[in-house]
Amino acid sequence: LKINLRNGARNKTSPLLHGLFFEDINHSGDGGIYAELIRNRAFQGSDDVTGGTKDLVGYRPIGNGVKLELDITQPLSDALRYSLKVTVPANATGEVGFLNEGWWGINVQPYTYNASLYVKPHMPSFKPASTISGLTFSLRSNLTDEVFVSKEVPFPPNISAYRYTHLQTTLTPPKAAPNSNNTFAVTWNGTAAAGQTFFFNLISLFPPTYKDRPNGLRKDLAEVLEGIKPKFLRFPGGNNLEGLSVDTRWDWKKTIGPLVDRPGRPGNWGYWNTDGLGYLEYLLWCEDMNIEPLLTVYAGYSLDASGAHPAHTVPPEELDYFIQDAIDQLEYAMGDVTTKWGALRAQHGHPEPFSIKFVEIGNEDWFSDSYAWRFPRFLEALKKAYPDITYISSQAVEENPTKQNITIPPGNMWDLHHYQTPQFYKDNFNYFDNWQEINGYPNVTIFVGEYSVLSRDRPGGVDWVNGEGRFAYPPMIAAIGEAIFALAMERNPHVVKLSSYAPLFQNWNAYQWTPNFIAFSANPKDLVLSTSYYQQKLFSEYYGAETLTVENKNGDFNPLWWGATISEDQSRIFLKIVNSEKDRKTVKVELDKAIRSANATVLRHRDEYAFNFIGNSTIVPRAQKVDRPRGRKVEFVAEGWSVNVLELRV
Ligand code: AHR
Repeated sequence: LKINLRNGARNKTSPLLHGLFFEDINHSGDGGIYAELIRNRAFQGSDDVTGGTKDLVGYRPIGNGVKLELDITQPLSDALRYSLKVTVPANATGEVGFLNEGWWGINVQPYTYNASLYVKPHMPSFKPASTISGLTFSLRSNLTDEVFVSKEVPFPPNISAYRYTHLQTTLTPPKAAPNSNNTFAVTWNGTAAAGQTFFFNLISLFPPTYKDRPNGLRKDLAEVLEGIKPKFLRFPGGNNLEGLSVDTRWDWKKTIGPLVDRPGRPGNWGYWNTDGLGYLEYLLWCEDMNIEPLLTVYAGYSLDASGAHPAHTVPPEELDYFIQDAIDQLEYAMGDVTTKWGALRAQHGHPEPFSIKFVEIGNEDWFSDSYAWRFPRFLEALKKAYPDITYISSQAVEENPTKQNITIPPGNMWDLHHYQTPQFYKDNFNYFDNWQEINGYPNVTIFVGEYSVLSRDRPGGVDWVNGEGRFAYPPMIAAIGEAIFALAMERNPHVVKLSSYAPLFQNWNAYQWTPNFIAFSANPKDLVLSTSYYQQKLFSEYYGAETLTVENKNGDFNPLWWGATISEDQSRIFLKIVNSEKDRKTVKVELDKAIRSANATVLRHRDEYAFNFIGNSTIVPRAQKVDRPRGRKVEFVAEGWSVNVLELRV
């Protein structure tokens, strides 16, 4: 491979190429990166969201005869209508109360946790003078009942049976629990409270969060995201933006403000979304990671990917309501405090406006047949209100030739999604080359908003119906396919500006989609970074500021794939080489300048189907020895099934 430094054409790499796409799927939000440790904290229900049933999933009574029931007569707020009713039997003695098992466990460490709840004694039975003086909050083992920390939280003197009282405290266990099979318990004296009834709501427990944000993100998960040096965050979906129906769309106005005012919604992925991770929290996520927000706005089309509910399009005469809603949404983020929605943001604790540079109109609208009239109406109105934003179309020419094509005006982008086989990415290595010219799209650029290797190679490609060949976890061959596609993007920086793997997270205990980038459970030891994760980490770490041309005298791409970039200060060349078959290949590299040193970082495995798993995450980038460069030349061995970055200092 001959890399041209002096004479070859160069292009500036896209500064934002690698980013994140997040939606609440696979319990990636509730039970995932949203750090709340209490499952079903406001009794909004669990997994059968579409059946509309509310339940007490996650809760168990403590004490003989103690009864837990779901109650609708004592709402905490308009948004949180169901409560937990705890009835203490007349003959109670000892400890009574309830516990919550968390999101399949609670990670107990010697941290300071913020615990809180709303409580309301029941009127006829409550005797303020003679009864209990408070509640005890504790963290305990679910296996042995060992108590790791416990604290009495007194009732305020004005506790009343006519309104909820907010109790809050901190809990600091002196040591870590041996495992994450732990619970959060709320108990009190059964003898003193015999025969009484209490109502509870919004029961919450937060560990220290990423950047110490109240109501923030789970630290370890946010930190591994930082590890791939992302440049943007696309949110909140995905299908989860669209809703199972128009009314259950991700309605940003219901995701802001105090948690007591957030009703949540039945998410698109089969479980209730609390919306504790709401619009402002997403913006703060971007601020804390110093990345660009890429907002997808609801564009009048709702789709249930499972097909259980019919897709629904807002009729033309109703669309303006949703367009105005998107404009309000942008004002909430970007308006100053003199604007209506900017003032509300300030009231929510963030007077400083955010900046949003990218807005996507809808999600995967190639499924709809109405985008041809919805997209231009949104685009025109949004552009008028916010002319500096780059707008992204979620449908374009090619995907659905039976439906109307969209005209994407110059200056805007097209989001394309690929869940594919390794072969697809090889076949489409040239896809972005001269894309604008070939498709007659001058100055339209591409956002690869969702991509991954979903399945092994098989005739006919991905089997969406039976899932034959679909990966459970990203194996080495997935990282190879994605690396090939990333090279295809990297070498076309004037076409592809942004890209993000999907989906991002998988909770080991409940998920709807495979494969995923990062898997986790309540136990931090279960965190698994996939081969795909490490491929992206490698590519973003060794990104480079300009692309370099690389000539190969010995044939074309396949089974080797490559691309080269140079660092901003012109001192380091990053030659990325992917070997997509099992035999090792010796690569002779030549520069038109002397090479001072060479080193290599390599992700590989001898088995293309090997993957990282709990307790066995061995496929990680490793340094590989490179022979000393001789003048302008160096030799490198690309092992079978490998993703390699050769760093050449000049
Ligand atoms: O990433 C999972 C789903 O795949 C997204 O919600 C949707 O946009 C795509 O079809």
